[in-house]
Amino acid sequence: MPLVKDFFIGLSKNQLLNKAAKTYGLKLGAQNVVAGTTIAETIESIKKLNAHGISCTVDNLGEFVFEKEEAIKAKEQILQMIEAIHTEEVDAHISLKPTQLGLDIDYDFCLENLTEIVKKANEYDIFINLDMEDHLHLQPSFDLLDELSKTYDNVGTVIQAYFYRAEDDIEKYKNFRLRIVKGAYKETEEHAYQTKEEIDANFIRLIEWHLQHGKFTSIATHDHHVINHVKRFAKEHNIPNEQYEFQMLYGFRKELQLQLAQEGYNFTTYVPFGNDWYGYFMRRLAERPQNLNLVVKQTFTKKNNVLIGLTAGAFLLGRLTKKK
Ligand code: FDA
Repeated sequence: MPLVKDFFIGLSKNQLLNKAAKTYGLKLGAQNVVAGTTIAETIESIKKLNAHGISCTVDNLGEFVFEKEEAIKAKEQILQMIEAIHTEEVDAHISLKPTQLGLDIDYDFCLENLTEIVKKANEYDIFINLDMEDHLHLQPSFDLLDELSKTYDNVGTVIQAYFYRAEDDIEKYKNFRLRIVKGAYKETEEHAYQTKEEIDANFIRLIEWHLQHGKFTSIATHDHHVINHVKRFAKEHNIPNEQYEFQMLYGFRKELQLQLAQEGYNFTTYVPFGNDWYGYFMRRLAERPQNLNLVVKQTFTKKNNVLIGLTAGAFLLGRLTKKK
């Protein structure tokens, strides 16, 4: 299984395939997990979820941006989405990735972009979540949060349970609204737990701790074992529903999403939009190769075959050049 995970994580960073994916649009089955390419389409998807009592956190797809122009374009897109959330009066907030807003270009440039976004969202009482990326960007992202929270209280972030330092971070940021996840990137044992058992155990520990000591907790997982554990734990410790929510990604375990909302739990769906879906989608395959079934259901058009061919080629190349 780790080999499969490494393979898809490797693919998620492949620039050539990323470009091809953008060119061919949402044709590889990604439309099952991406809510729309335009803001108007995405607002319609949000309205449908809201009608079922589900709130949304909206992510303008894209990450690891190295051109200032591209980062500014992303910022404009996010500002327009904030405006649309406000005018359309939908129940939604924003998730964003600091590397999309220029963290790899220049820290101050990224902070400027983020400040503009958080300020605008604050005017409309809209929450901004800083998604957490790989280890390289972990501390700079916390630094951004520290800086932004000096002026604004509508920001929060993510704690990734695979990191050894997660326990310290969750304590330090206990007064923030936090999303707790297992962690989606490939990390070395220098920084992160490697086995499923260790990661799951830390995930549960962190969730229990934040439920009892922290502000609002977003438990982001598709793992029904964890969800059932949290339900039991909250009941046994008299933790009111208002203090936490469950989160899942758009298109995944749709029936369970509806069921949790119907049972009266706060529920938020992570709604990605735009055409830069490739890295996001490959990480979903890394987590769970069965997610490929979201792809194979699609008709194999000529263009799809090009992308599938490129993917298979990259796989074979990866296998042949693998050191061990
Ligand atoms: P995992 O994939 O570990 O599966 C555990 C078990 O759950 C499976 O064995 C199976 O039994 C069941 N299961 C899972 N998926 C299923 C499915 N589709 N159908 C049926 N059963 C299924 N990561 C990160 O590093 N930074 C971030 O900012 C975020 N943000 C984020 C937001 C949201 C809303 C979510 C849901 C996730 C993230 N993540 C993330 C990703 C996260 O770190 C993690 O990689 C994935 O959620 C996968 O782990 P899970 O806990 O969902 O289950």
